[in-house]
Amino acid sequence: MQPMIIAPSILAANFACLGNEIEQVLQAGANWIHVDIMDNHFVPNLTMGPQVVKSIRNYGITAPLDVHLMIEPVANMITPFAKAGADYITFHVEAVKDISATIELIHQHQCKAGIVYNPATPLTGLEKFINHLDMVLIMSVNAGFGGQTFIPETLNKIKQARELINNSNKAIRLEVDGGINLETIKVAAKAGADTFVAGSAIFKSKNYQETIVNMRKVIEQP
Ligand code: DX5
Ligand code: ZN
Repeated sequence: MQPMIIAPSILAANFACLGNEIEQVLQAGANWIHVDIMDNHFVPNLTMGPQVVKSIRNYGITAPLDVHLMIEPVANMITPFAKAGADYITFHVEAVKDISATIELIHQHQCKAGIVYNPATPLTGLEKFINHLDMVLIMSVNAGFGGQTFIPETLNKIKQARELINNSNKAIRLEVDGGINLETIKVAAKAGADTFVAGSAIFKSKNYQETIVNMRKVIEQP
């Protein structure tokens, strides 16, 4: 198993002091920064574009930026996000016709590629792409808003994805996103996730460090 990654979602941060918020969660022990891109088309919410990713880099943040695209179409936005400084670019399987070409396009930009499954979308066909992927992201809420409740039925998909990843023998990350807190992180880890996105549970907590340390304790317990 690869090291456990905690990726706070800045969707729940205070955007008026975003650079400082990111510095604080990184100092508190976060590994990556998760950036939620929503377009009011694929999902009924609107967040930020590549210029925010660029600003984060210009501010001096060097941690991996995990850019979760909840947009449609996807292809025309890969270059801008890659140029802005994304490390991982993930896109929804529901938003793309040619999955292989989209993975390839992300790789052409020297970024790591991941595909995302909403709760109602089965993992059908994942085995066809798995060898080309750097990450699989299983949504544990419906993409679109922070602060939703974890859907326990998605745990089965985490288990299925874990099996496919193990069979592939590749270092592919298995990320879970949505409603992750000190309780749900434990069951998600048990199901096989190794990369955990948490927005509200971290940014709405009083002490980021205490929250992240406690999350890590829970997922690193044998
Ligand atoms: C939902 C986003 C999530 C969200 C997580 O569409 O992809 O990353 O910000 O927020 P919490 O942890 O509050 O559910
Ligand atoms: Zn996300």
